[in-house]
Amino acid sequence: MTDPLDIRRLYGRSQGHPLRERAQGLVDTLLPKLEVPIDGGLTAERLFGVARPLGLEIGFGKGEHLAFQAARRPDWGFIGAEPYLNGVAGLLAEVEDRALANVRVHRGDALEVLERLPDASLSTVWLLHPDPWPKARHAKRRFVNAGPIGLVAAKLKPGGELRIATDHPLYMRHTLVVMQRMQDFAWTAESAADWEIVPEDWPDTRFAQKARVLGHDVWRLIYRRR
Ligand SMILES: C[S@@+](CC[C@H](N)C(=O)[O-])C[C@H]1O[C@@H](n2cnc3c(N)ncnc32)[C@H](O)[C@@H]1O
Repeated sequence: MTDPLDIRRLYGRSQGHPLRERAQGLVDTLLPKLEVPIDGGLTAERLFGVARPLGLEIGFGKGEHLAFQAARRPDWGFIGAEPYLNGVAGLLAEVEDRALANVRVHRGDALEVLERLPDASLSTVWLLHPDPWPKARHAKRRFVNAGPIGLVAAKLKPGGELRIATDHPLYMRHTLVVMQRMQDFAWTAESAADWEIVPEDWPDTRFAQKARVLGHDVWRLIYRRR
């Protein structure tokens, strides 16, 4: 039987250029303090010492969006999953610069975090500019697929949000098709004008900025867990 989470094998790079001195220092000293425990369930109480709403960002890149959300909501707990070490170092710098006390990090596959969270424990999940894997033969690697999105559905509270951004037209169409089949989610867009509205709590990420420089559209989709 094929694994419904068949994207589990991680693709893409996990390290880029050698880390600069500060980044290496943060990886050595701050990361061990913020890393999610290596096994067992991941409750808010365990991660933050107290029950609180939880947000998860999948593939946070350099972490600027996650840091923005964490600074906005000091009473929430935020978990970021990202295999790319240089990106993790970027998030650690944000955490240090902004003195954030509500961020935990998993350097690796977001599926490993999702599987260990209690059902209905997340308030918001962000999936911003996921790798598009545009070739049809790589379509199974896209995070937006029934297996991973089904897992996200299980871990979101009723009424919780899955926020997806992409600047890739094919991924946009793919997302609309996959999400329409997911009975657990309702797309919140009500009119064509919704495309134009940029929520004040949704700043452009690095990838969104790059896309705009190239003249590409950036699409934002908000799905509510039924
Ligand atoms: C195109 S980048 C977008 C980064 C950032 N979200 C942004 O918008 O600037 C996609 C990111 O997702 C990460 N990624 C890919 N698969 C992942 C997975 N299964 N779990 C967590 N992160 C993943 C990659 O390492 C990469 O940093």
